[in-house]
Amino acid sequence: MKFIVCENYEEMSKAGAKIIADLLKSKPKCVLGLATGSTPVGMYEELRRMNKAGEITFKDVTTYNLDEYYPLAPDHDQSYRYFMNHNLFDHVDIDKSRTHVPNGLAEDPAAEGAAYDKAVEDAGNVDIQVLGVGQNGHIGFNEPEDALYVGTHLTSLTDNTIEANSRFFASKADVPTKAITMGMGTIMKARKILVLASGKNKHFVIENMLNDRITCHIPSTLLKTHPDVIVICDRAAFEG
Ligand code: F6R
Repeated sequence: MKFIVCENYEEMSKAGAKIIADLLKSKPKCVLGLATGSTPVGMYEELRRMNKAGEITFKDVTTYNLDEYYPLAPDHDQSYRYFMNHNLFDHVDIDKSRTHVPNGLAEDPAAEGAAYDKAVEDAGNVDIQVLGVGQNGHIGFNEPEDALYVGTHLTSLTDNTIEANSRFFASKADVPTKAITMGMGTIMKARKILVLASGKNKHFVIENMLNDRITCHIPSTLLKTHPDVIVICDRAAFEG
């Protein structure tokens, strides 16, 4: 696991964007695993700028997002499909039919999960998986538990996550309590994983990624068993 400590959020976002841009240049038909949340917003902004400037193209890129609230329609303004369209897809030269977000209205979430994993595999697996981290160490919506799931599945959000995400909704009661998320196995199949973390409230997670232990109660620690992980964080997340 490699750590890059940046001075601030902007520097972190640019460093993350450069890693994605380098992949797009060396492998134009790549598969990206993408995350939502506030952390990657600056990186998506930089990627939009690079695309507009003609430095990179998304025209042959396929994407799979980590997760989607359940139940939530794709056109709901807090859905992760809406987030991705708004922050990236609507502004770059990507073929939207090759962008994928779990279906937050799936009638059979287990079947949706299995089909999503198969689609990722059929696409040749993810080249770079972008991850943010929850304050409790969740990745995707794999929340701290005694045992974690391998595949994409329906999960319940912890109160801590509902509270943290309530900032995007009118009230805490409006935050969906469930989500469909890639499982740990789906995430770990990515050839490279890019973790972004910003701010003091992510220090607990960074601290626990720096030591030599892994636990399902801090899911991000399992990334230590992956052969190619880059963590880019800002000084606030690194020093606390
Ligand atoms: C988002 C996701 C979540 C977030 C995490 C951090 O697709 O899977 O794991 O990355 O909750 O969210 P922010 O960046 O808002 O702190």
